[in-house]
Amino acid sequence: MARLVVDPAFVVGAVDRRLFGSFVEHMGRCVYTGIYEPGHPTADADGFRQDVLELVRELGVTAVRYPGGNFVSNYHWEDGVGPKDQRPRRLDLAWRAIEPNQFGTDEFVAWSRKAGVEPIWAANFGTRGIREAVDLLEYCNLPAGTEPADRRVANGAEEPHGIKIWCLGNEMDGPWQIGHKTPEEYARLAEEAANAMRRVDPDLEFVACGSSNAQMPTFGEWERVVLERTYDLVDHISLHAYYEPHDGDQAGFLAAAEEMDRMIGSVIATADHVRALKRSDKEITLSFDEWNVWRQADFPGELGLEIREAGPLIEDTYTVDDAVVVGSLLITLLRHADRVKIACLAQLVNVIGPIRTEPGGRAWRQTIFHPFALTARYAGPTVLRTAIADGPEIDTAAFGRVPALWSTATYDDSTGELAIFVVNRSETEKIDLEIPVTGRLVRHLALYDDDRSAMNSADDPDRVQPRSVDGTEVVDGVCRATLPPASWHLIQLSS
Ligand code: AHR
Repeated sequence: MARLVVDPAFVVGAVDRRLFGSFVEHMGRCVYTGIYEPGHPTADADGFRQDVLELVRELGVTAVRYPGGNFVSNYHWEDGVGPKDQRPRRLDLAWRAIEPNQFGTDEFVAWSRKAGVEPIWAANFGTRGIREAVDLLEYCNLPAGTEPADRRVANGAEEPHGIKIWCLGNEMDGPWQIGHKTPEEYARLAEEAANAMRRVDPDLEFVACGSSNAQMPTFGEWERVVLERTYDLVDHISLHAYYEPHDGDQAGFLAAAEEMDRMIGSVIATADHVRALKRSDKEITLSFDEWNVWRQADFPGELGLEIREAGPLIEDTYTVDDAVVVGSLLITLLRHADRVKIACLAQLVNVIGPIRTEPGGRAWRQTIFHPFALTARYAGPTVLRTAIADGPEIDTAAFGRVPALWSTATYDDSTGELAIFVVNRSETEKIDLEIPVTGRLVRHLALYDDDRSAMNSADDPDRVQPRSVDGTEVVDGVCRATLPPASWHLIQLSS
């Protein structure tokens, strides 16, 4: 019998609600026929799909990063504002696509307001730089009285957009990035741009580009160089990571949270090393602004793509196991709530998205939608440390022997509600779990299936969905639950 021990005295940190962010890139069908489709039966006057907006609200997304991704590094934001019939069609170099520019800055902000999410802007630091970033910032955030701000007003947005979070570029360490830079080149640009942008709006939060993944040859060194230059100017350093099974190691894939956990630990260590060098009182926090399961092995690579407009791209269909992994990655982000302040599930619709649409047709929830929606909905304001005693272990090719149980908990001291999020990563063993508690059981919801490769589809959109677990009970101050193999759980208790 495994035991999970949790106590409201053992606080990790406050949950920043921006941990439940997502990402909309001009890529494939994320924007066009995803969130935006004039002429769709559910489209509103702005061309926004209401069926998708409803699912976005249900998902519980709090913040959305835009417009890329790799797309942004060759993006001219000016092309996407003003009368739609005068906007140019451009070649997007990142995804070798035709960008019609029918959805741009003002549409994104209007869509964000309708979705109830905070907009996060990623600026082009690939083919452009300080001047364009400042112009865009004036366009977005100044009331009126300068050419860019007046242009926004003339385009119909009288009130400033008030975008507070700015990513200083995207994946500038990656050789695939248009305008890829060395750490020194990027650090100088980020330093000068942040300095200039703060003069427009001193209240901004800046995210400096970290590494595109922990396997990059410059991982660790990139963060050190960038932060040594920008430490006093930026607030967050970014992390990106996508997970997929390697060499048939499904056990290692189910334990992908180990990799995310180690990456977060390494970036915190690097940021704190720079803090020590600088004898600074300031703490840099983390923006995990791209994360998800993505089977990149199936992706032909950018140069393998045929040039077309809004063609489907990386529309991974997710399984039960993928949802369990996504749930475990959310647990990992919560376990680091003291340092991870922003996180974006990449992406939101169609492109490796929790929401899938048909052009002109239906929209539905992928399997990964469910752990995200339930975590966003039930996570309380404070993360608590959980300890597992007498839990079994599993063998993985990727990480060796690791605990089968992966958990976190949140607490709301105004209601006394405790939410425990736990994953059984064993492919073969069910685990009987005991949790000493003071309160009563409110709900036990879980995601698992005898067919771990089951997926949702337009014709069977609810094939995989959370189920209420029978048999879980609290007796004499102990909650007892059985966790099937490869399963994700929310156990909510109230005092
Ligand atoms: O989300 C897909 C792509 O993955 C993004 O454009 C890029 O930033 C990352 O490499």
